[in-house]
Amino acid sequence: MAKVVIGNWKMHKTVREATVYLETVVPLLEKCKAKVFLAVPYTAIAACAKMAKGTGIFIGAQNMNDARDGAFTGEIAALMLKEAGADFVLLGHSERRHVFGESNEFIGKKVVRALQDDLIPVLCVGEKEGEKTEVVLEEQLRACLESVPKEEAGKLIVAYEPVWAIGTGKTATIAQASEAHVVCRRVLGDLFGKRIAAKIPVLYGGSVKSDNAKKLMAEEEIDGVLVGGASLDPNTFATIAAGVK
Ligand code: PGA
Repeated sequence: MAKVVIGNWKMHKTVREATVYLETVVPLLEKCKAKVFLAVPYTAIAACAKMAKGTGIFIGAQNMNDARDGAFTGEIAALMLKEAGADFVLLGHSERRHVFGESNEFIGKKVVRALQDDLIPVLCVGEKEGEKTEVVLEEQLRACLESVPKEEAGKLIVAYEPVWAIGTGKTATIAQASEAHVVCRRVLGDLFGKRIAAKIPVLYGGSVKSDNAKKLMAEEEIDGVLVGGASLDPNTFATIAAGVK
């Protein structure tokens, strides 16, 4: 399968800054072999989607609510994101889980809603420092994906992001990342069957930089990377994506 490279800007970039970024990154990604995704702030989705049209770059959001609509002040619905031009949405990012207290149950409902409303869900999972990777991955994947119908599961993307590696400069070793990916693939296989599980890209995230991205993506088990801090600079992000063979 084609490798996937996702940039997650988090709470960075105004619309004006996003526009300058796209102007720079689009020509740099012209010959890129990876599937490139950018998770941008809500306010920048429409402008980025317009600029990314026809380039093959997917634009998406970093979160959403599980309800179709309703009295949820400050929340945003999948259909609103879709109409603004989003193709995908990050769900269950560790900052949502651990800073904003989102549960597996809530995240699971969002995954189902995203699929219903035609957004690709990028489900993030990962253990905190000291936790057992396999146990946490198994629990999070099962709880967040149990309500996903088999026939929809091929649309999912999963990102393994050890919480201790996010924004810390500490990266999982290639062996640790590969092992975790094998666990993810096994659980996906249990849930949806091996054939469907094989179609779901499983990415690695956590302090991915231009100097380690190539090695991570050279691993057969690792289908791509989710890049936070290093995606904020268009040249660095394009270098990471260009490293994909
Ligand atoms: P980082 O963030 O690359 O800055 O560690 C990754 C993420 O939060 O998805």
